[in-house]
Amino acid sequence: MVKITPSGSITEAVKILRQSRFTTAFTGAGISVESGIPPFRGKDGIWNNYDPKVLDIDFFIENPARSWVIIKELFYNFYHSAQPNAAHRVLARMEKEGKLGRVITQNIDNLHQEAGNKMVSEFHGNLKKLKCLSCDREYNAMKISLEELPPTCRQCGDILKPDFVFFGESIPSSALMESYEAAGISDVFLIIGTTGEVMPANQFPPMAKANGATIIEINPEPSLYTNTTTDLFLQGKATEIMKKIEAGLFSPSLDDN
Ligand code: APR
Repeated sequence: MVKITPSGSITEAVKILRQSRFTTAFTGAGISVESGIPPFRGKDGIWNNYDPKVLDIDFFIENPARSWVIIKELFYNFYHSAQPNAAHRVLARMEKEGKLGRVITQNIDNLHQEAGNKMVSEFHGNLKKLKCLSCDREYNAMKISLEELPPTCRQCGDILKPDFVFFGESIPSSALMESYEAAGISDVFLIIGTTGEVMPANQFPPMAKANGATIIEINPEPSLYTNTTTDLFLQGKATEIMKKIEAGLFSPSLDDN
């Protein structure tokens, strides 16, 4: 078991979040696990059973049908059923009540927006749109049949690609800019459910820390951040910890009187 140094309490985290001028939440697949979406790594990780090459852009272009079969199974089969969970909802309430400035998410599941967050930077795009490889025409993924794969463009007949970032593709410039800005202005970074393994998304918590932010991390397991970047490690599932943070942040407390 990895020795966890920065273990901390919900009370400390609530105090830091209450006093924060600008908090950014930095989320990974772990925040959606309790919505029924498997993570990529760890004991139930997708990459234990599938080769990540199916999400490599060169592989997709050369083998669109093979790649699409797995993409549909991994992402589109669950998309209709997955709902935001309590952790997503608390982040939406925090934004609404002025206690959260931005969410930077590595997730493509759209659950932060469905929970109500408006200030969301989708570092790896979003699965709700498909785009034609040739004419760039965009389609709502939910309105395109995935019975026959690969789906093709009604305008030019070429292949449609999910509008999320494949390995080997560049990060959407708007998400990149927003993330750099958030890492520069945040006085608290709240990391929820990420291993911290994937570049270049994983650079933002250390960047925020270097700019003076306090790093709070929520994860049932230690991550690459826990003993290097994290100031306060709240070990546990995202929904459990976030519900306790919500109670502390928004319930009248003794020091409010
Ligand atoms: N609550 C909070 N965290 C959880 C939970 C939970 N209920 N269950 C698992 N986790 C944690 C795991 O301990 C792990 O640290 O979520 C993390 C999931 O790690 P990954 O699957 O690697 O997800 P992530 O870090 O977001 O991956 C980054 O890798 O494959 C690419 O593009 C993909 O965006 C993804 C990127």
